[in-house]
Amino acid sequence: MAVFPQDFLWGAATASYQIEGGAYEGGRGPSIWDTFSHTPGKTARGETGDIACDSFHRWQEDIDLLAAMHLKAYRFSISWSRIAPTGGEGWNPEGLAYYDQLVDNLLAKGIEPCVTLYHWDLPQALEDKGGWQNIDTAKAFAKYAAKLGEHFKGRVHRWFTINEIACIVGLGYGSGIHAPGLQLSLEGQFGCWQNVLYAHCLTARALRTADPDNQIGFASTGRICYPAAECEADIEAARRATFASPDDDWTFTHQMALDPLCLGHWPTKDVGPRLAAAIARVPEEITAALPWGRLDFIGLNIYNGAPVRAGKTAPEYVERPTGYPRTAIGWPVEPKSLDWGPYFISQRYKLPIYITENGLSCTDAIHLDGQVHDPDRIDFTARYLLALAEGIARGADVRGYFHWSLLDNYEWHSGYNERFGLVYVDYATGHRLPKDSARWYARVAESNGSCV
Ligand code: GCO
Repeated sequence: MAVFPQDFLWGAATASYQIEGGAYEGGRGPSIWDTFSHTPGKTARGETGDIACDSFHRWQEDIDLLAAMHLKAYRFSISWSRIAPTGGEGWNPEGLAYYDQLVDNLLAKGIEPCVTLYHWDLPQALEDKGGWQNIDTAKAFAKYAAKLGEHFKGRVHRWFTINEIACIVGLGYGSGIHAPGLQLSLEGQFGCWQNVLYAHCLTARALRTADPDNQIGFASTGRICYPAAECEADIEAARRATFASPDDDWTFTHQMALDPLCLGHWPTKDVGPRLAAAIARVPEEITAALPWGRLDFIGLNIYNGAPVRAGKTAPEYVERPTGYPRTAIGWPVEPKSLDWGPYFISQRYKLPIYITENGLSCTDAIHLDGQVHDPDRIDFTARYLLALAEGIARGADVRGYFHWSLLDNYEWHSGYNERFGLVYVDYATGHRLPKDSARWYARVAESNGSCV
């Protein structure tokens, strides 16, 4: 049986471009994901978020689904281009009104609105001026955040500024498989990375100025390694491999953001030479702002990890056996990542942690009995929650868990192929159908995890 702290926060997560639709409604301006998804060849079957789950119109149904699952928090993101259609001031009153109704109705149901300010949908107007390659985007982001901090004062207290800097930069400006689809050098990517961190720091200061009660978080994703055997040597090897930053694999890391924000300095151990040189060139303007970005809590998006053992001179990755369990999207099923990942992060930064994303895609379909039976999602989530309880017992300070995702939704360049939801969405009609896992997760939330 899994044991979780009293007042553990059980929630679910979504993101604006992945669920809202209403792409051309309510005064919303174009984002880089509108541009990217409408560019031939960039997404599976050319699928876009134009309609998605139509939460722009069906937001009340989403709230009712959260309430039916006895969830106490909803992590959703605000579409920057719905608030600032041209990326700058001239705030869109219809956009503010949309999120007012969402926030006010969540509060009325006793569900805490946990806002992600940036979940990848940069206003196209800002990308036209260089996007995250341009330091001015950081300043524009802080103005947008300040407006929202003032607008939602007293109603929203828990903010996640940025979702997954690793994917924003690594996929958007590195591999190019995500918007805006650029392929920059390591140095060019690092230039974007430092601007996104700067955006977080300016925003954290703005939100705390708007309301000193605001709690500031940062939803991070990155490499997680766990010990192949629970011996001291493998544990230290897994820790070292988790926090390494070699030149050829530095973007997908936690420490490249959390060290400067939580420790006040960039990583120094196991850092590649080109990366070390780029770090040495960080502008003073950004370095001086880092203390403003201090976190009240860390968000961790963890889906899987890698087994590592101690080698003669360095950690060694352990190859998974043939036929190792995988989810529909192809990711390995690695519950120990939710044990050791939060533990290593908690030990390094000594801050409260919220699991801001964990879940899987399944080949879900409506069965002959009219229901969606998803035993894989129940088994996966049970295994990961049992592992999370292990990590908490080991000493990880984890305060909550947001399942990814409330709804099946637009999985970026994969389009709608991957169903991550606790709730099935019929994309032709927008109809929502809770899966077996939704009923199971309701029992988990109601029992504070003890039924797992
Ligand atoms: C991420 C994003 C989500 C994804 C989810 C499944 O972590 O990549 O935050 O938007 O949809 O993780 O890939």
